Amino acid sequence: MKIGLFYSFNTKNTQKAAKVIIDTIGDKVELVPVNVEEATHDDFNQFDNYILGVPTWWDGELPNYWDEFIPTVEDDSFKGKTFAIFGAGDQQAYPDNFVDAIGIMAEFFSNRGGKIIGAVPNKGYSFDNSAALDGDHFVGLPLDFENQAKQNKPRIEAWVKQILKEFE
Ligand SMILES: Cc1cc2nc3c(=O)[nH]c(=O)nc-3n(C[C@H](O)[C@H](O)[C@H](O)COP(=O)(O)O)c2cc1C
Repeated sequence: MKIGLFYSFNTKNTQKAAKVIIDTIGDKVELVPVNVEEATHDDFNQFDNYILGVPTWWDGELPNYWDEFIPTVEDDSFKGKTFAIFGAGDQQAYPDNFVDAIGIMAEFFSNRGGKIIGAVPNKGYSFDNSAALDGDHFVGLPLDFENQAKQNKPRIEAWVKQILKEFE
C-alpha cells in the first residue's frame, strides 16, 4: 500500500508527530512524505490513500500553508480515495476551537467524495467545543503538545495501527 503523508516540513509539533508516524508505519507501507508548502495539484492527486497533518491556528482556522494549498484541489473529486487526518491543538488555551482544523479538512474532503478514517473517542481530552467532533468521536487524531505531550507517542502508535486496518 502507498500512502501520501502531507504536512508542512517547517512546523515544530506537526513535524515531530510525522516523525513518529514514519517510524511506526512499518515496511509493508510505502509512505511518501510531501511538504504541503511546495506540493502541486499533481503531487497531491497521485495518491489514493492520504495521511494529512493539520494543526489549528488563528482561533479555529487552517494554518496559512494549508489555506493556500486547498484552492488548488477544490474542484477535484476524491471519490474512491481515503483520508486519515491528525492535528495538533491546545485544549487549554483554545477550548472553544480545539483542533478545529481536523474538522475543516475532514469536511472538505468528504464533501468531495473522500472517505475519512481514523476517528478516535473524545475521552481523555478536556475542552468546550471542537469542529472536529462527530458525536463523541473526533474525526481524526488530536495531539496536544502543550498539555498532554507524553500521550502523543502512544496515541500516534495506536492510531497508526488503527488506520492501517481501516485503509485496507
Ligand atoms: C496564534 C495561534 C493560534 C492558535 N489557535 C488554536 C486554535 O484555535 N485551536 C487549537 O486547538 N490550537 C490552537 N493553537 C495551538 C497550536 O495548534 C499548537 O501550538 C500546535 O501544537 C502547533 O503546531 P505546529 O507547531 O505544528 O504548527 C494556536 C497557536 C497559536 C500560536
